[in-house]
Amino acid sequence: MKHTVYVTRKIPDEALQMLTSRFHVRMWEKEETPVPRSVLEEEIQEVDGLYCLLTEEINEGLLKKAKNLKIISNMAVGYNNIDVEAASKRKIMVTNTPGVLTETTADLTFALLMATARRIVEASDYLRENKWKTWSPMQLTGQDVYGATLGIIGLGRIGEAVARRAKGFNMNILYHNHNRKKDAEAELGVTYKEKEALLKESDFVVLLTPYTQETHYLIDEEELALMKKNTILINSARGGIVNETALYNALVNGEIWAAGLDVFEKEPVDRNHPLLTLPNVVTLPHIGSASKATRMKMAIMAAEHIVQALHGETPTHLVNEEYF
Ligand code: GLV
Ligand code: GLV
Repeated sequence: MKHTVYVTRKIPDEALQMLTSRFHVRMWEKEETPVPRSVLEEEIQEVDGLYCLLTEEINEGLLKKAKNLKIISNMAVGYNNIDVEAASKRKIMVTNTPGVLTETTADLTFALLMATARRIVEASDYLRENKWKTWSPMQLTGQDVYGATLGIIGLGRIGEAVARRAKGFNMNILYHNHNRKKDAEAELGVTYKEKEALLKESDFVVLLTPYTQETHYLIDEEELALMKKNTILINSARGGIVNETALYNALVNGEIWAAGLDVFEKEPVDRNHPLLTLPNVVTLPHIGSASKATRMKMAIMAAEHIVQALHGETPTHLVNEEYF
């Protein structure tokens, strides 16, 4: 008998065909609207495979309804939207899409860093709003990137790719990671620091850790207070790593200079979000991995994981490997 798969959003045809050629596939056909919870709760009951996005919270309550589920394939590298423990208990495989998005996400992280440092969005608006009347010495002046000190918190694949870019800008690169990475230190010339020291010394603090219980509010009032007044905070990982209220206060009170954010604690946000009201915040709608080529690779990789799992193979990027 053919296995059945549910796909929670319209995905590219190339990825979809990999599934429809092998399985009974049902899909939430919309692109801009996430699947309603009631539909997901209904669909999950009988399926063998679930193809989902980071917009779906796959929690224990949902998994309790699943009678045949063998694999949850997340089309993202981060999988904090999935209760992996609850899945593991039920012998359900969980997969993510690492590697293919590393350079694309590092590009975006660096773009956000530069846009924030040099006030690119504000300056562009200034022009479009007809405010440009003359050239003046200190008009729209920002912070230098070249030669500045960069502190990377979370030196994984993406963190290392950001460090490689920073080398080209002659930056002094510090990092903090749960384990020290001597190979990266030798290869990239990065220096390990305790979190406090990194926060005190960095002109740019870039967050690239996974979002877990340990990294929830990793940057809170106390950490922001350690940063220099000229520091720029960049978050292209997950919103919950930063306490947004504390960040808002630090930006308004001039404790730090600016922030560049690709992610928020609760997404999506709208223009009334307090952080979107500040001129020294550059914000993006979670587009770190959003190049055409990379999103296609992620979509195909997530489909491959379903094919592998339902054919009795170990998927290439199995998150809860120790259970199988
Ligand atoms: C996107 O944020 C991802 O985790 O892939
Ligand atoms: C994610 O891919 C990371 O390791 O940074």
